[in-house]
Amino acid sequence: MEILRIKGGNKISGEVEVSGSKNAALPQFAAALLSDQETILENVPDLSDIKFMGEILSHVGADVSNIGPGTWKIHPANIQPNAPYELVRKMRASICLLGPLVARLKKAKVPMPGGCVIGHRPIDLHLHALGEMGATITLNQGVVEVDGSKLISKNIFIGGRHGSTVTGTANAIMAAVLTPGQTTLDGAACEPEIVDLCKMLGKMGAKISGAGSHLISIEGVENLNGCNHRVIPDRIEAATYIMAAAITRGEIRVQGVQPQHLGAFSKVMNESGVALEVKENNLLEVKMSPDGLSPFEIITLPYPGFPTDLQAQACALACTLPGLSILTERVYPSRFMHIPELLRMGAEVSLEGANAIVRGGKMLNGAPVMASDLRASAALILAGLAAEGETWVHRIYHLDRGYELFDQKLIKLGAEVERLPEFALPPAFRSPIE
Ligand code: EPZ
Repeated sequence: MEILRIKGGNKISGEVEVSGSKNAALPQFAAALLSDQETILENVPDLSDIKFMGEILSHVGADVSNIGPGTWKIHPANIQPNAPYELVRKMRASICLLGPLVARLKKAKVPMPGGCVIGHRPIDLHLHALGEMGATITLNQGVVEVDGSKLISKNIFIGGRHGSTVTGTANAIMAAVLTPGQTTLDGAACEPEIVDLCKMLGKMGAKISGAGSHLISIEGVENLNGCNHRVIPDRIEAATYIMAAAITRGEIRVQGVQPQHLGAFSKVMNESGVALEVKENNLLEVKMSPDGLSPFEIITLPYPGFPTDLQAQACALACTLPGLSILTERVYPSRFMHIPELLRMGAEVSLEGANAIVRGGKMLNGAPVMASDLRASAALILAGLAAEGETWVHRIYHLDRGYELFDQKLIKLGAEVERLPEFALPPAFRSPIE
């Protein structure tokens, strides 16, 4: 296993290019299964989750190849409905195969996704939508078996207790695009990744309206063609670099982000004293207020609210802001695995239910810390950038799932970051107390 060694104290500066969005690309790989023709996806980030999804599509019979940097060809001429347990259990997003397999083959067998450290992640809303459309769903030894031989169009409410479901909305749209008649999804997710999926499906010949709103309408068509589609930039990656600049009080330029995708995050940053100025063609200039940065209060919500995928990184930033910050997690109420590790660095954070109360301002101390999930990894690296001394982040395979060349991009911005094999560490720092 590898670790990242970070020497804190450098202000980062310069320009960083945002990669394609992981959370847009993953459902789009699945959407390619809706046609027997070839689809080309461009600007796909080079991530382990993407490689997993490619393997899963190959397993169901698609011809999948990475034909160039960021470019994938998917040709699902002949596919079968069974997704492989060994791969599905490693990546929750593989649940996105349900919709396309049921739409194209009228059946699907997809293992239930495994547990997740960020919290309870059921798929009841995915199955509710398919059930509403007339699918018969059984759970057989941990495998969701769907008979969609009699799918009908329907008006469906797809919202849940925690608001809308992103991949649930994606699955429902993909199940409906080949179902005759008009299906409407009320309480649908509005995330930019859903809008981009609908844009891709439109290129394939699907008839979808309302993407980006809570009411999406799909007019089923006979069949779909392949397409060429360029994945949108990753708004979560972009925001993570903005917070890397903020936590080191550096100034950077972020190339390629679509500023309108940053939603409530931009407002929180501006109010805290991190100025985001849009320059020509998707270049964002990030500058710090000369009066210093202020603590903030955030509540994570579905888009355009503050993204839950930025909560851990914001928590690390809050540790360096003098005063009290409050971060309330409304999407995954237990998504605080990064906090015990931040405490090892001297942070002062108390957890009251789904609220993290951060008393910031004290200098963080470098320490060996353990990444638990993708966004917690990024949070701990950001904390290391600001901490005094060296920080060693273990289990960075979590990071490589969702950030393309994160350490390389930080080095280019002037951070002192080194990727090392775990045995390279001094024995005392080989592995923090489990
Ligand atoms: C997507 O996950 C993202 N993943 C997640 O990003 C992100 O955190 C999440 O949306 C919320 O924005 C991908 O797009 C691949 P949800 P998803 O269904 O679709 C509840 C990352 O770090 N819910 O939108 O699985 C659920 O418990 C990852 O990149 C139900 O109750 O999330 C949660 O509270 C982590 N029943 C809320 O809805 C369901 O059937 C939002 O979940 C489905 C979800």
